[in-house]
Parts: sequence; C-alpha cells; structure tokens
Amino acid sequence: EEILFLRLSLLSWYDKNKRDLPWRKISCKDVNQSAYATWVSEIMLQQTQVATVINYYNKWMKKWPTLQALAESNVEAVNEAWSGLGYYSRGRRLFEGAQKVVSDLEGQMPKTAQDLEKILPGVGRYTAGAIASIAFGEVTGLVDGNVVRVWSRLRAIGANSTLPEVMELFWQLSHQSVDNERPGDFNQAVMELGATVCTPKLPQCGQCPVQALCRAYARAEHDKQSAVKKI
Ligand code: ADE
Repeated sequence: EEILFLRLSLLSWYDKNKRDLPWRKISCKDVNQSAYATWVSEIMLQQTQVATVINYYNKWMKKWPTLQALAESNVEAVNEAWSGLGYYSRGRRLFEGAQKVVSDLEGQMPKTAQDLEKILPGVGRYTAGAIASIAFGEVTGLVDGNVVRVWSRLRAIGANSTLPEVMELFWQLSHQSVDNERPGDFNQAVMELGATVCTPKLPQCGQCPVQALCRAYARAEHDKQSAVKKI
C-alpha cells in the first residue's frame, strides 16, 4: 500500500537525516516538560528561521526551564528574551499561557490538539497539532508551508493554498497520512523533507526518499522524455 510505503520511507529517512536541533534532544521522561519545550520551539519557529531560533531557544530554556519558572517571570523579562525575534506578541502569549497552565491547570499542559488550541493563547491549529503529536503522541496531522509544498508535489496539487477549502484538503491529507505509531516523528519528517530536500527552489529530488511516489517528479520526467523525442 502506497501510504504504508510513504510512512516507512519518510520515517527511516528522518531517522538517518534529521538535523540535530536542541528541541529534539529533550528525551526527558516528563511529557509535560516535553510539551512545554515543544511549545516554546514551535512558537519561535513561526516566522523565524531555524538557525536564528536555536540560540533564542537555548537561552530561553536556560532562563525558564519549566512552565512554573516562566509563569513567575514578568512581561519585561519576556520581551527582553524575545528581543530580535520579532512579533513580540508570540512571546507574551507564551508567558500568559504558562501562567494559565500553572494557575488554572495545576501546571499540567492540555494534552490534545483540540484542548491545546482552545485553551492556550497564541496556539493555533498548527502549533496544537505539533505539541499534541510530538510531545503527547496524539495521532493528529499538521500543516505548515513545508507540508503544503511537499503534499502539493507528491500529489501534483496545483490549487491555490491560500483558499480555505484547499487548506482543508491539506489538513485532511495530513490527518489521513500520519503514522499511528510515531505521529510526531512523521509530522517532523514531512516538515524536515520540505526544509532540506523538497525545497521551494531547486528541490533535491535525487535525495528524496519518496521520489517513487511523487507525481510532480513523474510529470517532470515524462515531460523531459517527450521533449527529447521531439528533437
Ligand atoms: N518547522 C517547524 N517546526 C518544525 C519541526 N519540529 N521540525 C522540522 N521543521 C519544523
């Protein structure tokens, strides 16, 4: 089955090729702590490049290693730690969210994508899916710019992804495809593929673990062959 091959190929590629990023090292037993770390990294990664986020993430986690520590901080310190990342409301909402989790939820993060999105300020559908799948192992998909590009190419979908109904299709694809055993790794594998191989310009199709399934690749190859025959 195509989807089983896709999952297996992406996951084994990810195991071998994933970048060594600080938020991927939290192999801590405490899922609540891992959810906090995932929350911080995923919020920072919105609108900011990975290379920039690494330093900010490390400093943030050193300054506020736990939700409790962050909740006891103040907005001035949070703004200062965010300085240079831009979109300061992202940092402030993280702080407000930590206060909410500590004061209303006994320090326990919401555990499902639905609750995360409903309860935490600044946590939208993408971030909720990321925290739920990566930290809590919920079998739920997620969609960001990388995911849209990867799926667009794999299925040769040319539709305009700024349309809500088209975005809904990508969410469906993502939910249907996510690996049941390793949902967080699967989601990160798709994003990682988009960030490092299936890039916007000059995609490295020769390095792609799912080239055999890619309809955009097949089309481009076919067009190349047809062109050659006309010469
Ligand atoms: N972009 C945003 N979050 C990511 C993650 N966890 N892995 C890969 N790319 C990402």
